[in-house]
Amino acid sequence: ARSRTYFSGIQPTGVPHLGNYLGALRNWVKLQREAKPNDTLYFSVVGWHALTLPQDRNALLKAQTDMVALLLAVGLDPERSIIFHQNQNPDHLELAWYLNCITPVGKLRRMTTWKGRLADARNANDESEVDDSLLNTGLFTYPVLQAADILLYKATHVPVGEDQQQHIELSRDLADSLNRQLGAHNKEFRRTFPLPEAVYTPSKRILSLRDPSSKMSKSSPFEQSRILLTDKPEAIKSKIRKAVTDSNSEIAYDPINRPGTANLLTILAACEDAQPEQVAERYAGKDHGILKADVIDAILELLRRPREEYERLIQARDYLDRIVEGGLFKARSASGKVMRTVRDRLGM
Ligand code: ADP
Ligand code: NA
Repeated sequence: ARSRTYFSGIQPTGVPHLGNYLGALRNWVKLQREAKPNDTLYFSVVGWHALTLPQDRNALLKAQTDMVALLLAVGLDPERSIIFHQNQNPDHLELAWYLNCITPVGKLRRMTTWKGRLADARNANDESEVDDSLLNTGLFTYPVLQAADILLYKATHVPVGEDQQQHIELSRDLADSLNRQLGAHNKEFRRTFPLPEAVYTPSKRILSLRDPSSKMSKSSPFEQSRILLTDKPEAIKSKIRKAVTDSNSEIAYDPINRPGTANLLTILAACEDAQPEQVAERYAGKDHGILKADVIDAILELLRRPREEYERLIQARDYLDRIVEGGLFKARSASGKVMRTVRDRLGM
């Protein structure tokens, strides 16, 4: 089999939560463990994406350092994986520009993430008409930057949550379009970029504990019930105890009608690498109190090591700085070569 290149990113918009861990970070560590010696893995803190929403400078700087500490704390190994800050490598922006110039506006309008942002803005302003003048161009063209992040390292595999499917498809389309442009005078150049494939996380999406109609999210200011990887045991206990369930005293896995209970079962199942339906069977005749106590125990066990490692690493600033410096050097060496080829083939 041909060697693989993995690329994935996470925004420095706050401390990662249980959903990020179960839906992304834990899977990154698993891929790192299972990768073949010739495979290359890039895990990037994507600061330029964070700027598509308003950010406070100091909070942003802290979030970037925290994120590196957390990536190491969950088990990414800088000897094996290339860990770096996207916003320290300007090649991302240059490739994004070339991609912007071949991306139809209509395609970006159809992105569900964009449509979601439009709906949010409309609700916030009590407008019935969709008004895109409230939103910035960066947010609109964000999926193109994401495609650039991926193509820049000729990634073949992109570990993501299922919410990212449309973006990965766009990345494939853009890889294909750019390949055609680069190969206009030379057929061989039509294979410059591999078409990246999504690698979906097996576990189901983790929902907000307070409002299980939306996902657990680190960027939403309205979502304070999320469990952070840095939460102390007391905070975890209190958040799970307050998690919304329902008045039905039986435990059953029914995500449509009983999303709160289903979410707790999903979390427990993910902690145990099991299916929520199977886990639900164990709770026949038991109540929410018993389920919540078990969910608390499972999360405490799952997050204990990462939290202890984080608390140790966050004191070691020089070490963290050295890791991302080394990662940036490797990232730029690879991307610089790709960009020289792209410029030459474009006539830039
Ligand atoms: P957020 O949306 O919380 O700000 P990011 O956009 O930085 O997080 O996403 C980082 C990764 O975490 C992505 O791969 C995404 O699919 C995954 N992820 C985010 N929220 C959840 C969730 N609630 N459940 C499972 N996976 C999630
Ligand atoms: Na997000």
